Amino acid sequence: MDSHYFGWIDAQCLTGEPVIVFGNGWAHLSVVLGSLMNKSGSRPLFMRNGLAYEIHSCLDPDLSFTPERWKQEIRKGLARLSAKSRWQRFASGVNQLSEDQLDYLTDVDGKDRVAWCALIRSGDSYQGIGVSRYVRLPGEGACAEFAVTVIDEYQKQGIGRALLERLLESARCNGISTLRGFVFPSNLLMLELCRQLHAHAIPVESFIQVDIPVPSTDGFNGQID
Ligand SMILES: CC(C)(COP(=O)(O)OP(=O)(O)OC[C@H]1O[C@@H](n2cnc3c(N)ncnc32)[C@H](O)[C@@H]1OP(=O)(O)O)[C@@H](O)C(=O)NCCC(=O)NCCS
Repeated sequence: MDSHYFGWIDAQCLTGEPVIVFGNGWAHLSVVLGSLMNKSGSRPLFMRNGLAYEIHSCLDPDLSFTPERWKQEIRKGLARLSAKSRWQRFASGVNQLSEDQLDYLTDVDGKDRVAWCALIRSGDSYQGIGVSRYVRLPGEGACAEFAVTVIDEYQKQGIGRALLERLLESARCNGISTLRGFVFPSNLLMLELCRQLHAHAIPVESFIQVDIPVPSTDGFNGQID
């Protein structure tokens, strides 16, 4: 075998992006990784209606996502969320979040507390349109509780699924085997999304507890179409 190789590496765990490496050796690999990590997150994704958006780690330094900026985005997002969506997400008719709640929502470490945000960029500015997050459950090492929210006007465009897939990938990289959520039985969209991700569902009080298994690999089979 010569020094050239074609390989799939687990750089996804470092960059959040799938990476295919062509080349010879670690020098090439580090250039690829370096360029990916510096380019402020992600390639554009497309909604079903063709509109471009991006998904970034909420820790992405290139977004200047300070906790204060992030809190501002959450406040703005909440204001654009319908009463129904707020109820489905927070199980209450919350109109605004307290400073403690905002602290909690923005407290991430990229490992036990992870968040991904979907945003639409326009020039140098951007607006947040969705977020997915998990928090590892204390005492249940391999299980984390998750939540996902997409602003109403961008729902049913594939963003919720894309955000959840990123979250599953982070969970895989961080040794989490189950993402657990609590969904109202009337939330058919979320239940369908969980079903597609092979969730195990059981009724718990007035919710459906959904346990989504975290795939143990990225599913890449070494073939390119
Ligand atoms: C639940 C939620 C996150 C889903 O996000 P979304 O971006 O609207 O979902 P997607 O567009 O990715 O759709 C996911 C799947 O739901 C299915 N779906 C779409 N519309 C549906 C409908 N009216 N009824 C049932 N299923 C539907 C589709 O099959 C879609 O899968 P597909 O990609 O194969 O078409 C979003 O609706 C939301 O933020 N709701 C309010 C907050 C909430 O309920 N959070 C969940 C509690 S943690």
